[in-house]
Amino acid sequence: MQFAVSAVLVIAIGFREAICMDLVVPLYKWPDLGQHDSMYDAVANSPVQTVAIINPTNGDSNQCAGTEPHDTTWRSVVELFDGRPLVKTIGYVYTKWGNRPRAHVEASIDRYFACWRVSGIFIDEASTDTSLCSGNGSYYKELYSYIISKNTAAEVVINPGTGVDFDVWRHCSTRAMVAEVPMVAEAPASSWVSEFRTSGHFNPQGSTATYPAGYAIVLVYGVPTEVQMQEVVRQAACESITNAGGIMVLSEGGSNSLPTYDQLPEYFLQEAEYITSSWSAMCPKYPGMNSYTLAPVGGVCWWNTSDNNCEQCHAGSFQCSWTGCYKHQCSPPGGGACSNPCLNSHTLAPTGAPCWWNTSDTSCELCTEGSNQCSWSGCYKHQCSPADGSACSSPCLNSYTLAPSGAPCWWNSSDLNCEVCALGSNQCSWSGCYKHQCSPNTDASACTNECDTSRRLRGSPSV
Ligand SMILES: *[C@@H]1O[C@H](CO)[C@@H](O)[C@H](O)[C@H]1NC(C)=O
Ligand SMILES: *[C@@H]1O[C@H](CO)[C@@H](O)[C@H](O)[C@H]1NC(C)=O
Ligand SMILES: *[C@@H]1O[C@H](CO)[C@@H](O)[C@H](O)[C@H]1NC(C)=O
Ligand SMILES: *[C@@H]1O[C@H](CO)[C@@H](O)[C@H](O)[C@H]1NC(C)=O
Repeated sequence: MQFAVSAVLVIAIGFREAICMDLVVPLYKWPDLGQHDSMYDAVANSPVQTVAIINPTNGDSNQCAGTEPHDTTWRSVVELFDGRPLVKTIGYVYTKWGNRPRAHVEASIDRYFACWRVSGIFIDEASTDTSLCSGNGSYYKELYSYIISKNTAAEVVINPGTGVDFDVWRHCSTRAMVAEVPMVAEAPASSWVSEFRTSGHFNPQGSTATYPAGYAIVLVYGVPTEVQMQEVVRQAACESITNAGGIMVLSEGGSNSLPTYDQLPEYFLQEAEYITSSWSAMCPKYPGMNSYTLAPVGGVCWWNTSDNNCEQCHAGSFQCSWTGCYKHQCSPPGGGACSNPCLNSHTLAPTGAPCWWNTSDTSCELCTEGSNQCSWSGCYKHQCSPADGSACSSPCLNSYTLAPSGAPCWWNSSDLNCEVCALGSNQCSWSGCYKHQCSPNTDASACTNECDTSRRLRGSPSV
C-alpha cells in the first residue's frame, strides 16, 4: 500500500519513563555452585531484581527432607538465593497445555512451598485456550487458586510462550511469558519484534493495546552481541512493543535451535546492569510514531519481503513507505497520517534524538544502529549515514525544517515540491516561490533563502 504525502506534519517528541524490569532466568541445569562460570553464582550475584526459575527434575520427584530440600546441593542453592534480597525463586511445573493431571502439578507445588522457600510458581506449557481459565473449576483457575492459597502474594507466572488474552488470563496468572522467540540470525536486533507482526501475538486478542505494565515477560534467544542485547531490552521495555516487566535475553539458540537454558550469555552481567539502568532510564518514544504505528522498524516492506526495515502497523493500518522511501510511519487507508519526509534507510526519524554536539537539543535525526547523524552544530540535515557520510545528502536546514521538499505546498496540495516543517512552524514558500525553508508559526524570521523557482530540489535533494 502506497500513500502520497499529507499536508500537515505533526511530530510528537516525547519520552516516557521506562517501567522497572526484572531479569527472569530459567535455571534448567543441575546446580553448579562454586564452579568456574557458575550459572547459579552469577544469578545469586546479579545486581538487578532477578527471578530465578528453579527446576529440580521438573518439580516431579519427592525432594523434601522436612522443611529443606533432600539434596544437599539444592539445599545450598535455596540458602544462597534466600539470603539475596534481589533474588526471588519460583518453582517450575509443567502442565502439557492443560492435559496433565492437576493433582500431579499440585503435588509439585506442595513440595516447592514446603521446602524450597519459593515465592511463586512458573507454569510451563500453558495453554492459550481461554476456556481453560474461565470460571471456577477450570484447569488454570484452579491451579491459580491453589497457589494463591499457599501465599496470597505468590507470583503465578504462566508460560504460553506467546500472547494471551489479558482480560481472561489475569484471573489465572500474575504474569505471563508472552514471547519466547529467537532473534533471526544476521538480521537487525529489531527482527525479533517482527515475530509479533500479527498484533494478536502479544496483544490481548489482536487489540491494539499492549499489556499493563509489569504483566508481560519476554524471552529472546539467539542474540549474539551485547549491543544487540541492549537494543532488545530497550525495545521490550517500550510501551509500544511489549511494555515488558520482565526479560531474559540469551545468546544461545537461534532460528533453528531452541536454547537449552543451561548456560548464561557472556554478557549476562552487562545485561543485568543494563536492566538496572533502564529502571530510571527514559524509554524513547520514536518521534513521528503516530498511533497507527507499532514500531518504526522490524516490519517487512510491502514491496520487498526480504527488507525488514519498514514500519510495523497496527491491524487495519498500512505502511507509508514505498520503494526506497522509508517513512517509518503507518496510516489508515488514504494515507492521511503519513507525514514524515522520505528517510534514507539509515534514518529512523527526522527529529527527536539528542544532537551529538548538544545533548539537550533533541531536534536531531534518530539513526539506526551503527549509523551517524549528518547534522552538525547549527546545521540540521535530519538524515543519518554510515560513518563515511556517503548518505548525507540534505543541505543544511534550519531547525524548523525537516526536509527541503516532499510536502504538499499550502497553496496547491498536488504540488509536493515544498518544504516539510516541524511542529509549530510553517512553510516560507508561496505560490511560485520555493524557499525550501520553514519558519516559526509566529513570524517569518527564519525565511532567509532567495526564491528558488527552478524546482530542482525535487528528486535531487543535494543543492
Ligand atoms: C469461585 O470461587 C471463589 C473463590 O473460591 C468464590 O468466592 C466464588 O463465589 C466462586 N464463584 C462461583 C460462581 O462459584
Ligand atoms: C530487498 O531487500 C534486501 C534486504 O534489504 C536487499 O538485499 C535486496 O537488494 C532488496 N531487493 C530489491 C529487489 O530491492
Ligand atoms: C543546546 O540546546 C538547547 C536546547 O535546544 C539550547 O537551549 C542550548 O542553548 C544549546 N546549547 C548550546 C551551547 O548551544
Ligand atoms: C498544482 O501542482 C500540480 C503538480 O505540480 C500542477 O500540475 C498543477 O498545475 C498545479 N495547480 C495549479 C493551479 O497551479
